[in-house]
Amino acid sequence: MHGGFLLFYTAMTDRSSMPVGIFDSGVGGLTVASAVRHLLPDETIIYFGDTAHLPYGDKSPGAILHYSKKITDFLIDHKCKVVLAACNTVSSTVWDELYGYSSGRTIALNVLDPVIESLVHGIQVKHIGVIGTKNTINSGAYSRNIKKILPDAEVSCLATPLLAPMIEEGFIYDDISNAIIRAYLSASTLKGIDKLILGCTHYPVIRNQIIKYYDFKVEVVDSAMIAAEYLRSILESRELLSSGSDKNDRFFISDHTEYFGKIAGIFFDKKISLEKIDLWK
Ligand code: DGL
Repeated sequence: MHGGFLLFYTAMTDRSSMPVGIFDSGVGGLTVASAVRHLLPDETIIYFGDTAHLPYGDKSPGAILHYSKKITDFLIDHKCKVVLAACNTVSSTVWDELYGYSSGRTIALNVLDPVIESLVHGIQVKHIGVIGTKNTINSGAYSRNIKKILPDAEVSCLATPLLAPMIEEGFIYDDISNAIIRAYLSASTLKGIDKLILGCTHYPVIRNQIIKYYDFKVEVVDSAMIAAEYLRSILESRELLSSGSDKNDRFFISDHTEYFGKIAGIFFDKKISLEKIDLWK
């Protein structure tokens, strides 16, 4: 959409009633969308799961940026007042470029900044573990940003690339997922951590399995809820909270996958209808 037209459109409509756009490579961002639904029941959500291109965790930054820009345009064309990149891989590898691309036209938010900010307010611990996709961990974004605000903390990061595809394939709360989770979390890198950041929005789906692995002795940070709280504070401070008329959530995917609908149904406690759209043709 042309910038001038957006400003004109925005001036002519009540901006607070515009939807919140949320995207991820697949079901992961649904953890954030569902937290937004619980915390901000009056907001309309437009969700995009780029299931044709997942996982993002091992794609090149150029490809991730290309996918993210198209999705951002799509959400802006759907008049979203906010575009929330509910994907740590996007948030840690291509955020500066994506922010530059979208921030003049909408409010652009990621999921990494709120989690880092929340560490200042949380109980201070000595040793923080982070798990995420290869891209997220290799970017160094978590360790760099945690060190900036908690210079004395020890930070140990581990790439856990099988977890997102495992979740997308519906392997949760079963022997296979327990074995994979155990294999990753028993790595010597994570020995002795007091807190574990789930640096991938897919992982809250298996948060209880992870908590159980640690026998409830390690705090497992739910980044989805933190991102939703951050969104609420941004909308509040800009007087953009919706007062809730005509709520009509929409869920778009770029390709059909067997489990997307099922997992979405679990998060939203109802059968949701999925709209397939190819933004890249
Ligand atoms: N949910 C995403 C993240 O937070 C992406 C996982 C993937 O597609 O590899 O990183």
